[in-house]
Amino acid sequence: MSRRALLAGNWKMNGLRQDVRWLKVLAEAMPDFPVDIDIVLCPPATLIAQMAQECPDWLALGGQDCAAHAKGAYTGDISPVMLADLGCRYVIVGHSERRTGHAETDQKVCAKVEAARAAELIPIICVGESLEQREQGKAVSVITDQMIASLPGGMSAHAVVIAYEPVWAIGTGKTATPEDAQIMHQALRTAWPGEDGDALRLLYGGSVKPSNVFELMAQPDIDGALAGGASLEVKDFAALIRSLIVS
Ligand code: PGA
Repeated sequence: MSRRALLAGNWKMNGLRQDVRWLKVLAEAMPDFPVDIDIVLCPPATLIAQMAQECPDWLALGGQDCAAHAKGAYTGDISPVMLADLGCRYVIVGHSERRTGHAETDQKVCAKVEAARAAELIPIICVGESLEQREQGKAVSVITDQMIASLPGGMSAHAVVIAYEPVWAIGTGKTATPEDAQIMHQALRTAWPGEDGDALRLLYGGSVKPSNVFELMAQPDIDGALAGGASLEVKDFAALIRSLIVS
């Protein structure tokens, strides 16, 4: 089964209006061969409307989080319907920075996934173990449990993306070895509750850089990458795009 590669950039809480020019600089740095991968940028919500106006057709936009409701009295929250209305096609849900910093449980993530699907967004669901859980030998069960509990029933593998992001590798410069990452991705694919696990796109995230992405992408169950720090610099993001296209 061939799965279309996907590269997603997560700017987190970085970027002001002046940084929208990143789009133009990226377009200039794009390879001159066909872009046969999906490329997604998740800027802060404040920049999405402006970016949507200038976004080339080979780049999709995504939110970094969404509410579990379409609308209502939820001060400060952004609904998936609003993200879709701005032109987003994807939304990250369950990032470890939200699971820990905002006490998001798997149940909450599951409700967000459901709301995102109702708004016709593709959720990128993040799962990942802490260093402590890894050292206790629980890494595989932690991430497969997180994935299953974050999925509403009957979810098609085509409707969702799963990102394996070991918490100890995010923003630390430490990356899982390609072999370790492969074991984790294979475990997620095997644990996928439907019959269509072969179609599920699995991303690796956690200190992805131009220098390590190629080896990660060479693993049979890794279909793409979710990059934080390396998405901020056009030079690095363009290098990731090139690596994914040729791998
Ligand atoms: P990082 O972040 O690439 O800076 O480690 C990845 C993420 O948190 O999605």
